[in-house]
Amino acid sequence: MRIGMLTGGGDCPGLNAVIRAVVRRGAGEHGYDFVGYRHGWRGLIDGETMPLSLETTHGLLARGGTILGTSRTNPYKVDGGVERVKATMLRDEVEALIAIGGEDTLGVAHKLSLEGVSVVGVPTTIDNDLSATDCACGFHTAVQTATDAIDRLHTTAESHDRVMVVEVMGRHAGWIAAYAGIAGGADIVLVPEEPFDLADVCERLARRHRRGVGYSILVVAEGATPKAGTMVLQDGDVDAFGHVRLGGIGNALAPAIEERTGFETRVTMLGHVLRGGTPTAYDRVIATRFGLAAIDAVHTGAFATMVALRGTDVVTVPIEDGVAELNTVDERFYADARAFFA
Ligand code: F6P
Repeated sequence: MRIGMLTGGGDCPGLNAVIRAVVRRGAGEHGYDFVGYRHGWRGLIDGETMPLSLETTHGLLARGGTILGTSRTNPYKVDGGVERVKATMLRDEVEALIAIGGEDTLGVAHKLSLEGVSVVGVPTTIDNDLSATDCACGFHTAVQTATDAIDRLHTTAESHDRVMVVEVMGRHAGWIAAYAGIAGGADIVLVPEEPFDLADVCERLARRHRRGVGYSILVVAEGATPKAGTMVLQDGDVDAFGHVRLGGIGNALAPAIEERTGFETRVTMLGHVLRGGTPTAYDRVIATRFGLAAIDAVHTGAFATMVALRGTDVVTVPIEDGVAELNTVDERFYADARAFFA
């Protein structure tokens, strides 16, 4: 059997480790052939491939990014896109696809599976916003990178008696902010799920300063919005999945905090830094187990599924369950972060 593989959407640490595990078991144990599609769904539309073999996937475990490349191309938004995807599969004699990505990539995989394409999905996104899995590959590394940055910002914040605003990715789900906020001992964490009140934020910071602590760390997810406010947009660009490009709430917050409190405030935007670099040990293990489970699912014909972590087990779930609704920060989890608010 020949199997196609692609990585789509925003990249994250661990994608290469998934590719390596799929090929190691698929080619090594089952004798399958693989075709790598370049730049996500675009590779299937344009017929752009790269060879995937035991040799070309050697040494990938710790490598960040994706050797396949990625894009935010949506075949359902390209004229004749879906037909071209199917034609490319026919041309390459590919019988099944392994789609690696987040909600957009797996959303397309789900739609294609409804049209009869044999697909297995692998949940990878730093945002951790896919449902039906306890975590997505890449999330843990992003949290670790954000936490390392917050640790460093702590010392300089303290030296200068400053408020440090740390903006992290998280468009609709504030998981990175919430986890890194707890891990890094943030004094305020703002997430998209809970619109914030600037006056309340400033009052908390002022209280902390009145208690004699002259510095504070505020972690804000890029998608966080003020109560009764609108989203702060860097520009009006919208991608093929209809997402507006964010990045700017930190820059809006810092002067507002400084003006209201009089505390010197600085902003650090971690942005794409969180998507880069080598995966943590945990993400390498998750990626490896996800990759093995994905090729096992293909081997047993368990299509229209997504591999998922449930407790400590890797299982398969209907791909629809992963993309039906976003996994957002729930009130109970946010309350744990709030317990340490200034
Ligand atoms: O992949 C999800 C994500 O990391 C979001 O948190 C963020 O809003 C987006 O990617 C940024 O995407 P791009 O790299 O296309 O600007």
